[in-house]
Amino acid sequence: MAAIGGCVTEDIWTIQRLRDWTCAYLQKNGSPTPRLDTDLLLGEVLKLPRLQLLLRLEQIVLKDELANFKGLVKRRAAREPVAYILGRRAFHDLELRVDARVLVPRPETESLVDAVLLFLKEPTAPAGAVLDLCTGSGAIALAVAKALRARQAERPIVATDVSAAALEVARQNAALLELPVEFAQGDLWHALPADAQFAVIASNPPYVLHDVIATLEPDVRAWEPHLALDGGADGLDQLRTIAAEAPQRLVPGGLLVVELGSPAQGRAMVELLAAAGLADAKVELVSDGPTALVLARRQA
Ligand SMILES: C[S@@+](CC[C@H](N)C(=O)[O-])C[C@H]1O[C@@H](n2cnc3c(N)ncnc32)[C@H](O)[C@@H]1O
Repeated sequence: MAAIGGCVTEDIWTIQRLRDWTCAYLQKNGSPTPRLDTDLLLGEVLKLPRLQLLLRLEQIVLKDELANFKGLVKRRAAREPVAYILGRRAFHDLELRVDARVLVPRPETESLVDAVLLFLKEPTAPAGAVLDLCTGSGAIALAVAKALRARQAERPIVATDVSAAALEVARQNAALLELPVEFAQGDLWHALPADAQFAVIASNPPYVLHDVIATLEPDVRAWEPHLALDGGADGLDQLRTIAAEAPQRLVPGGLLVVELGSPAQGRAMVELLAAAGLADAKVELVSDGPTALVLARRQA
């Protein structure tokens, strides 16, 4: 960034020149998406959507704007996720506040939300609440809440996490979005009353193999909470506990939807569920990513 620093006062930086320089700089520092990162950060400083940046390539970037931009670029060059730098992330039909207390919600997880919403449209979907187990930023619970409100088909929605810090973020998101979600803290099922049952249980739990975390991109391993990633030696620690109690936590006809890290983990989860008494579980691959969804219904 020294080059930018050196040029701030003497040189004229147009949007185009700054984009090209920053893109090359972020690429050199290992960003897998340097052009997108550049545009998001520059758009933030100039308060312009991406398209407007492209339409104003000859616009001169002012000294204050350059100084602000330099601060953001330095953070990204240290591989801090863009979502943390901006403090927000689009997810499903929402914009969520995010910071280092929570996992950055991933596009793959939108498919899990869609699976929940599809199920709840079925005329045979049972009455009852929706549970988001391991809620993080509140992404799943809040996306479901917003969609159900739009359909005028509201149901109680409960979201839990073991991390008090994550729940602070989730509660803030619920308040900002004015969506009614009830939050509870605790280790998986312990966050809930012993007799609580749900029409839908949705979960994107930690599922990364413990030893794999050290091999992940620095954007993830150095910045995102390991509590949100670490699924133990085989990635299945939390999944075993989820599977063991899932049948008695679902009302008859209810649905469990879980995101996993790979089709192989999906198949392992199906076996765990079958052993627990949910024999008709199936694995669905999420088409736009390496993750898998497992859907399991309790018989009506
Ligand atoms: C992969 S993140 C998912 C966050 C969010 N649902 C999403 O899709 O973006 C997993 C979350 O599980 C939480 N977690 C980890 N272990 C847990 C446990 N034993 N009980 C409850 N929550 C747990 C973490 O704090 C983290 O917020």
